[in-house]
Amino acid sequence: MITIIVACDRHNLIGDSQSPSGMPWHHAEDFAHFKKTTLNHTILMGRKTYEAIGRPLPKRQTLVLSSQPLDLPEGARWVSSLEEVLQAYRQSKEELYICGGASIYKQCYPWADQILLSRIPGDHQGDAWLADFSAYFELDHCEPKETFTLEIYRRKPYA
Ligand SMILES: NC(=O)c1ccc[n+]([C@@H]2O[C@H](COP(=O)([O-])OP(=O)(O)OC[C@H]3O[C@@H](n4cnc5c(N)ncnc54)[C@H](OP(=O)(O)O)[C@@H]3O)[C@@H](O)[C@H]2O)c1
Repeated sequence: MITIIVACDRHNLIGDSQSPSGMPWHHAEDFAHFKKTTLNHTILMGRKTYEAIGRPLPKRQTLVLSSQPLDLPEGARWVSSLEEVLQAYRQSKEELYICGGASIYKQCYPWADQILLSRIPGDHQGDAWLADFSAYFELDHCEPKETFTLEIYRRKPYA
């Protein structure tokens, strides 16, 4: 099972290279949702997102995608082939969470089963956006949280 997990505002903004965390906002409830959802699972992220976070996330196996070998601490593992990782998890009961950034999300649209999208209210500054996924996914339902809305998208039939 492959799940894309992402937070974006109403303009599909997801990142800000001027911010120390790489994120356009600090959103406590969404961070808690991300942690609760991904804990004890495998997560995959691009090299730039990993560098913005700066360390493997605790109690998760972190796969970091890069074309160049990476010397990573315990808890993180360099992977060079996105397709090999996605093939392995496509048929597996184990969950793989795709955690960004923009380039990784887009490449995973043809492979993922669902998107968990945290819609963060307000307008924000930034320079990375989530690419349009409407050819692959349709909205299944929304779950209102206290400070954001969780939108759950499922793969379209035959997409
Ligand atoms: N809002 C959110 O939920 C969220 C979540 C995560 C990230 N973000 C944001 O997204 C932005 C970063 O996105 P980004 O697209 O610039 O960077 P990224 O996806 O994090 O990383 C890109 C890097 O990943 C590697 N890569 C990508 N595709 C590959 C492939 N097929 N094979 C091998 N390596 C591959 C390359 O590393 P090498 O150059 O080393 O080869 C590439 O430079 C940041 O602003 C970050 O804060 C937002």
